[in-house]
Amino acid sequence: MDELRALMSSNTLEHHWCPFTANRDFKAAPRLLARGEGVYYWNEQGERIIDGSSGLFCCPLGHGRREIADAVHAQLATMDYAPHFQAGHRASFELASRIARILPDGMDRVFFGCSGSEAVDTAVKIALAYHRAGGEAQRTRFVSRERAYHGVNLAGTSLSGMVKNRRVFDAVTFPVAHMRHTWLEENRFTRGQPPTGAELADDLERFCRLYGGDAIAACFVEPIAGSTGTLVPPVGYLERLREICDAHGILLVFDEVITGFGRTGEAFAAQSFGVKPDIVTLAKAITNGCQPMGAVAVDERIYDTIVDAAPDEAIEFFHGYTCSAHPAACAAGIVVQEIYEREDVFARGRALAPHFQERLFALADIAAVTDVRGYGLMGGVDVAPAGAPGRRGLEATKRFFEAGLHVKFTGDCGIVAPPLVAERDHVDEIFDKAERVLRTF
Ligand SMILES: Cc1ncc(COP(=O)(O)O)c(C=O)c1O
Repeated sequence: MDELRALMSSNTLEHHWCPFTANRDFKAAPRLLARGEGVYYWNEQGERIIDGSSGLFCCPLGHGRREIADAVHAQLATMDYAPHFQAGHRASFELASRIARILPDGMDRVFFGCSGSEAVDTAVKIALAYHRAGGEAQRTRFVSRERAYHGVNLAGTSLSGMVKNRRVFDAVTFPVAHMRHTWLEENRFTRGQPPTGAELADDLERFCRLYGGDAIAACFVEPIAGSTGTLVPPVGYLERLREICDAHGILLVFDEVITGFGRTGEAFAAQSFGVKPDIVTLAKAITNGCQPMGAVAVDERIYDTIVDAAPDEAIEFFHGYTCSAHPAACAAGIVVQEIYEREDVFARGRALAPHFQERLFALADIAAVTDVRGYGLMGGVDVAPAGAPGRRGLEATKRFFEAGLHVKFTGDCGIVAPPLVAERDHVDEIFDKAERVLRTF
């Protein structure tokens, strides 16, 4: 560690204010990654670390894919940037078409941004614009859920159901009605979808009675709540939300920033659970994490309603980012989508899932583990808190890293989500290491 600190002058460590990081603690003993290839990272000291969380759930193809780097390089060498307001470039249209092909039928209009948080902001604005264009401008309320994570921009912060992500920022958020989360004591250690809890969706019906169903613009949910620790929807829950939304004309938004692109076995959780939303937010795996990108896909009727309501030659939707559909991100996205198709990556993940789930649930007999949840190639492992909430999670992060394993912890929950291209042996390595470390608590 002294060697590492000597390598980095103290100034270079101090200047970067690291996001979602205990900066003082981290800078005293930084965990710095230097290289990635396949399902492995190497740290600055040259030690190999297996990637148990696909970076931040964004690298289903693993690391170091030459084709992606080459495509980005070629794009930047040909045209580094192109404005996207009243102009464009070919790659964004190709990428949108490719994504539309794998989305649920009819969800084939795609708006690009640069992150999941921007996708969520965009989705909120699309919902408002859609209702206004459709003559229902009174629909201005939003519904979300406790324990939700929808990114960190102001819309996502408002929708957030995690106290630390919202408490300080109340002054700049808009009011949101939060449904109860779907974690139930009785469903601890349930594999796949919990059998009970569908009635928790009726919270939305109660909000309709309280506010008026025609006052609500949209209901946002992650089909599987990811960052809070893989809360799999109870059997019938998403179906019930869909029914209530249909009954009241509310848009159902699935935030698939984590579940998107194969994590649940199908391209999207919407298909795995057989429930079609009206809007889907995407990011992360859209480029395998190789370039910043987010996107919102909407049902055709939403696009048509907004676009058709505007006068000829008028801009229909006053929203967009300088780097919306950045050429380099589109180039990465196109190659990534090609690889998903060519290598049948989602089917690969689906085939690996039973072994992954087997090893995940084997953690249940460790004393410090208080719950395990999982679906597809996603798992949440709750570790009994010790001291302030999150302290043990941080300690586990460090011990895992020392043992050569990267797992993202939120509070005291480890979220395991290996690359979809991992092999059985990689899954075994992840859980052998996790097991060994968790037994030390
Ligand atoms: C469900 C969900 N929505 C939105 C986001 C925000 O994405 P980003 O960090 O790219 O802004 C995340 C990030 O983890 C997420 O899990």
